[in-house]
Amino acid sequence: MIRAKILGTGRGLPERVVTNDDLAEFLDTSDTWIRERTGICQRRIAAKETLLELCEEAARQAMDQSGVEAGELDMIIAATLTADHPLPNLSSSLQRVLGADNAVCFDLSAACSGFIFALTTAQMYIQSGHAKKVLVLGGEILSKIMDWTDRSTCILFGDGAGAAVVGVSENEQGILAADLGSNGKKGSVLSLPGRPVENPFRPAEKGPEKCYVHMEGQEVFKFAVSQVPASIRKLLEESGKSIADVDCFVLHQANLRIIRSAAKRLKAPEEKFFINMERYGNTSAASVPIALDEGIRSGRIKKGDLIVLSGFGGGLTWGSMLVQM
Ligand code: ACO
Repeated sequence: MIRAKILGTGRGLPERVVTNDDLAEFLDTSDTWIRERTGICQRRIAAKETLLELCEEAARQAMDQSGVEAGELDMIIAATLTADHPLPNLSSSLQRVLGADNAVCFDLSAACSGFIFALTTAQMYIQSGHAKKVLVLGGEILSKIMDWTDRSTCILFGDGAGAAVVGVSENEQGILAADLGSNGKKGSVLSLPGRPVENPFRPAEKGPEKCYVHMEGQEVFKFAVSQVPASIRKLLEESGKSIADVDCFVLHQANLRIIRSAAKRLKAPEEKFFINMERYGNTSAASVPIALDEGIRSGRIKKGDLIVLSGFGGGLTWGSMLVQM
């Protein structure tokens, strides 16, 4: 069987660092509250960068590390909620700036699970022999869909992009298994209103004046602490692996308390969980690839390690992946 493998990773982050104290200057909040409830100390905010620029940086690093040229890519899949514009799609814009003329390009929307869904899609194309080299991205400028007067949401999020180049594995290493899921019935706990429909054939709808993320924090919390461990357990059971076999867990960086709770429920040592939310906050689809890239470049994730990637968020959606690096 053809197996897909992560050949290289990269990340692109905005320059501007915004600390909890910076937020406390215009919101009724504090560094202590944010750190204790979330584990976040600062985040990056795109004060001048576009999402395309952040993704291009991440993509170039991933291509450099993998030694894959733009012309070799036969597919680009970008997971995002916050493309600079709906048309052209982000992945086609990336194709243009990278010169990846042979790639088929499409965007994918699965909120904070987006990168895992995109990586699984790449894996399927590679396994079925329909693609050989795929660039997968998760990127967000969430700061543009936040209500900056709502202290219960805007303190959580940050901007950034992460990328991976996926190719054909030459040995037994690579993506071993994936578990994806969705629960549309619970979708309203994490939502973002769309544009009202306006056309000559339909009575004008009264739409929201401003379109911001709405989140029922505790509901999302409950969903995450039960679904993430369940998905990881299923993934490991089906692969004949145990918690002890896993060298590193790279979970979506939403809240430190969620990760600690997942570790406890899985009976896995907390030290095995990669954490960088204190510096970037929750970057939605970008959080798993940014963490993966930091883990690899810092030496925390090494060649041959068995790792679990796991994302969860709006939809509701979740996805976990078992990867032999
Ligand atoms: N600063 C100070 N006080 C605050 C803040 C803030 N930034 N935000 C809320 N509060 C207050 C509330 O008003 C409330 O006050 P009250 O008791 O007087 O009513 C109190 O703090 C407690 O509020 P809760 O909402 O109960 O706080 P909780 O402990 O649940 O923490 C949080 C809130 C951090 C949002 C938590 O519910 C959480 O992390 N949920 C999961 C969210 C998440 O993971 N989202 C991302 C996943 S999906 C995705 O990534 C897109």
